[in-house]
Amino acid sequence: MPSAKPSSEKPQFYGRRLGRKLRPKQQQLLEWGVGRFGITAAALASASADSLLDPRDFFASPPESIALEIGFGGGEHLAALAAQYPQRGFIGVEVFVNGVASLCRHIEAQNLSNIRIWGDDVRLLLPFLVPAAFDEVFLLFPDPWPKARHARRRILEPPMLDVLMQKLRVGGELLVASDDATAQSWALAACWREARLEWLARQAADWRLPPRDFPGTRYMAKAEKAGRRVAWLRFRRCDGGRDGGRDV
Ligand SMILES: C[S@@+](CC[C@H](N)C(=O)[O-])C[C@H]1O[C@@H](n2cnc3c(N)ncnc32)[C@H](O)[C@@H]1O
Repeated sequence: MPSAKPSSEKPQFYGRRLGRKLRPKQQQLLEWGVGRFGITAAALASASADSLLDPRDFFASPPESIALEIGFGGGEHLAALAAQYPQRGFIGVEVFVNGVASLCRHIEAQNLSNIRIWGDDVRLLLPFLVPAAFDEVFLLFPDPWPKARHARRRILEPPMLDVLMQKLRVGGELLVASDDATAQSWALAACWREARLEWLARQAADWRLPPRDFPGTRYMAKAEKAGRRVAWLRFRRCDGGRDGGRDV
């Protein structure tokens, strides 16, 4: 049985769980959205080592592909993709309650039915899912955890990266975007060392420009306004024939 730690031992993450108190309408949307589209702890409790959960089963009819967005913030990117690709399924993960409420507002406003929400730490969800669960993973402007002593809390730290590799199918893609120079080089080095990932950049424009038709995120807008350069790091999951990783 995969183990999620009891709440008193939950892994730490960067940032806050709750911001400004939700207005009644936001609270109502949050309850509606999580009630209707939320992945429940009870669903995870029903999983066992021999019967892990397939995110395709979270949807009424199996989607063409499944994408995971880790730390979706206000959910604008996730909602825009879900609206653009109704045949695909999207799993959004966010610990910040106000962000989850914001995604619920987008879902309601755009009448979306192809998003499922995990409103907690991604590290508590992934162990319960089948291998190769995802065709795509988005990690957009992850918290940088700049201090060296906090490095193990970064999402792409080896234990988490290893879990992520198990859940991303071979041929699937990981997109990491960051406007923080330390986080950029750290993420690139971490993914470069990972033998199961191939960096897809062939020329400078490949990491300097967002993917075509990229819907944008709140942090992307902040970075652009402040004149910070964003790195767009795209990787493909390969079968990683080599032992260990590469030398950097
Ligand atoms: C810097 S914000 C970026 C938000 C959004 N992706 C954007 O580009 O606007 C990072 C987000 O990741 C969320 N986050 C951090 N660690 C997380 C974790 N372990 N599981 C789920 N969400 C997490 C934070 O709550 C925060 O909303």
